[in-house]
Amino acid sequence: MTKALDGVRVLDFTHVQSGPTCTQLLAWFGADVIKIERPGSGDITRGQLQDIPHVDSLYFTMLNHNKRSITLDTKNPKGKELLTELIKQCDVLVENFGPGVLDRMGFPWETIQAINPKMIVASIKGFGPGPYEDCKVYENVAQCTGGAASTTGFRDGPPLVTGAQIGDSGTGLHLALGIVTALYQRTRTGRGQRVTAAMQDGVLNLTRVKLRDQQRLAHGPLKEYSQFGEDIPFGEAVPRAGNDSGGGQPGRILKCKGSETDPNAYIYVITQAPVWEKICDVIGEPEWKTHPDYAKPAARLKHLNAIFARIEQWTMTKTKFEAMDILNEHDIPCGPILSMKELMEDESLRATGTVVEVDHPTRGKYLSVGNPIKMSDSPTEVKRSPLLGEHTDEVLREVLGFSDAQLADARASGALDPQRQAAAE
Ligand code: COA
Repeated sequence: MTKALDGVRVLDFTHVQSGPTCTQLLAWFGADVIKIERPGSGDITRGQLQDIPHVDSLYFTMLNHNKRSITLDTKNPKGKELLTELIKQCDVLVENFGPGVLDRMGFPWETIQAINPKMIVASIKGFGPGPYEDCKVYENVAQCTGGAASTTGFRDGPPLVTGAQIGDSGTGLHLALGIVTALYQRTRTGRGQRVTAAMQDGVLNLTRVKLRDQQRLAHGPLKEYSQFGEDIPFGEAVPRAGNDSGGGQPGRILKCKGSETDPNAYIYVITQAPVWEKICDVIGEPEWKTHPDYAKPAARLKHLNAIFARIEQWTMTKTKFEAMDILNEHDIPCGPILSMKELMEDESLRATGTVVEVDHPTRGKYLSVGNPIKMSDSPTEVKRSPLLGEHTDEVLREVLGFSDAQLADARASGALDPQRQAAAE
């Protein structure tokens, strides 16, 4: 079966998490993703958080499936020549180098455009143009500067970052959308274009509802925030709202049976207005259906702490899965807090390929998150990540049509591997 991006060739200059997330998606959709790595060391994450000595880390393997790896020293003159040839043969170049790196390498956008006017050049940086554009940025920096941290956590505690990698993986997702959109536009214009996604912008986009609330604040308190019911005045900026639901339907994380010993024995329960009467019945408070403090959504906002305390009394008599089953029977929105261990063992996620087992020549079998985007005509088969430089010869032969003599010449130049590089110097 063909894949959606069959025939699209991507020069993948990405490293760490943000860029690799993007190019992994493109590879899953069928693009030929050629990862260019520095001879000898490669993507720094190959050696980071290693659980097995001298084996590519899970950090690397889980972000670089379905790609080919070539080693190329882009500071070596022959390396620059090879890169120029590769640019001519590829459709997309993706990079998430620090600011100015591609320019210093001798390949600014204008040069790439001159080499291949059809090429789409896609970049992730920490910030867009402005006072911080030269800064290097990692995940938590983006979460803090994009508005997520100031709005995450409890009102009386410090700002918090979230485990979801909204800065890195989130921006990689944004960039992937930009690339396929540019590929589509190219079918009409024949021209490539520059696609950029700043991590601060990506995080802010994902924190959009809080910018909504910032503006609502000018017109009065945010009534769905717990602090409204607690009579705590609002300040100038959107406060942290703990586990309050952001959508106007009050929700909280509540303890379930076993929470004394199990840190994940909790369930999120949303007191959605249309199912309020069912909630009253389930928790054994049928008189709340008509009580003036509880019957109507507006009246309930002042009593959320009492309401959720009562619901928690009920959830504490059930395991999170029992509570979910009962609440679901009544269409009451809820979600158990699932641990990574539980997700890893979830059979339905295995069945859909969202959690996949992958075999790797030096690591053996490991679990990864497969493609969360399912397409009927372009199914994803998750293939292991490449070893460093595994496909250097193959790519030079296949993409650039190199002969044995040309390959030997490239090797002798020191552009492809570190030992010769040192000798050449
Ligand atoms: N051959 C030769 N040199 C290479 C090379 C290759 N194949 N690949 C990379 N390099 C060199 C670059 O040319 C650069 O050299 P220079 O600084 O002399 O110009 C050098 O490696 C370092 O690149 P850089 O991207 O700045 O790496 P870093 O480790 O210093 O910084 C980041 C890492 C992530 C902070 C930085 O890349 C960054 O801010 N990226 C954008 C934001 C981002 O994606 N952050 C999230 C990462 S998950």
